[in-house]
Amino acid sequence: MYKNKISIIGTGYVGLVGGVCLADFGNTIINVDINEEKIEQLKRGEVPIYEQGLQDMLDRNMEEGRISFTTDVAAAVEESEVIFISVGTPPDEDGSADLTAVLEVAKTIGQNMNGYKVVVDKSTVPVGTGRKVAATIQEQLDERGANFDFDVVSNPEFLREGKAVHDFTHPDRIVIGTESEQAREILSEVYRALYLNDVPFVYTNLETAEMIKYASNAFLATKISFINEMSVLSEKVGANVQEIARAMGMDGRISDKFLHSGPGYGGSCFPKDTRAIVRIANEHDVDLKVIQAGIEANEYQKKHMVEKITGRLDDLEGKTLGVLGLSFKPETDDMRESPALTILPELIEAGAKIRAYDPQAMEESTWRLKEYEQDIIYCANEYDTMKGSDALVLVTEWNQFRRLDLQRVKDLLANPVFFDLRNVYKEKEVAKYDIDYIGVGV
Ligand code: UGA
Repeated sequence: MYKNKISIIGTGYVGLVGGVCLADFGNTIINVDINEEKIEQLKRGEVPIYEQGLQDMLDRNMEEGRISFTTDVAAAVEESEVIFISVGTPPDEDGSADLTAVLEVAKTIGQNMNGYKVVVDKSTVPVGTGRKVAATIQEQLDERGANFDFDVVSNPEFLREGKAVHDFTHPDRIVIGTESEQAREILSEVYRALYLNDVPFVYTNLETAEMIKYASNAFLATKISFINEMSVLSEKVGANVQEIARAMGMDGRISDKFLHSGPGYGGSCFPKDTRAIVRIANEHDVDLKVIQAGIEANEYQKKHMVEKITGRLDDLEGKTLGVLGLSFKPETDDMRESPALTILPELIEAGAKIRAYDPQAMEESTWRLKEYEQDIIYCANEYDTMKGSDALVLVTEWNQFRRLDLQRVKDLLANPVFFDLRNVYKEKEVAKYDIDYIGVGV
């Protein structure tokens, strides 16, 4: 068991989930953030994000004294031997990842280092960032005339929002990018609980680990764009993309995961990371044609959803659409790059009024779609969105939208048309209630 303290700087999705889960593995964690309000909230034991299982795990680990929260980065650095950097890397205007926060943390580490430290990059960062972090720390040490040993490791995180606790505690692999034996051993101890559960560990160098993260996300995003393109073609030729995906997925080399066509991928990772890797490649005079095409196909897919709706309903002027789901996927209140952020404004621009419901994301929607507040009514539940609406549009496949009472849907809609942008229902089943069903690629 790893005995020394671990600091995790940044309490966003990855930092907070990582901190709580690493504490649950038996480590002693100091979670750090410069946002005082957030830290105060966490000190009271309140989780600021909606993430299944996280609150219970936090309660348990706070009670057992394995996790604490502070805004004092310097003290946290001094007290710990392992420091995870998990601050945000938001996209710059040109699509590249903004490293200001990461390098600021590196600087603070250099200024406060008081012995050997393992500095772990957990944020998704462009190739070469690990070396930049090391150089920044070294600069600070030189300035202080201090001489301490340290290692920088890239340890990318692959958790999904909504399933973050499960993914962190049941990963497919742990990637540890460093050539330092000492750092490898320390991190193996930190993740010992997973090692004991037979999770494979991939030891590699810094740059390879950094690339693994981008390559994985870009591959998954491209896979979604691939099946979305198949859905567009399927609609034209009378094929069924769900059956295509199912049969394709039976080939073990393809696999059936991430082959669900829908309104396009969103979230804080795929859109940002695909743009960032294209940008990194450009800087090295490499043209990533496949990923670039995947990005364009994703933009098209969102527009195509709007075309499907306007194509079927003709003029949207004066029409009301019931919308189910606003978050970029179920089980999260996160709307970053959600397809709803493209689809709803375009429907409104075309003259529609929206009656929307989402189990978690309505608060976020009120500010993200503020510009359109005159045209959106937030409803009390899923059925409320349908009252007198000219069509129902399912944008995000929350579980509660999977078991709608279709008779009630038919009775509530003024015009029984159902756009199921996640292919949750089958046309036959919906047709029994005299509801017109429009899925994606089916
Ligand atoms: C994604 C990756 O799945 C994680 O492995 C990674 O760690 C994370 O990004 C990250 O880099 O932090 P996440 O964005 O939370 O996780 O969500 P996903 O479940 O991957 O979904 C992303 C988007 O793709 C959603 O909009 C979802 O609706 C869409 N999607 C997913 C599809 O349209 N079809 C699919 O078959 C799968």
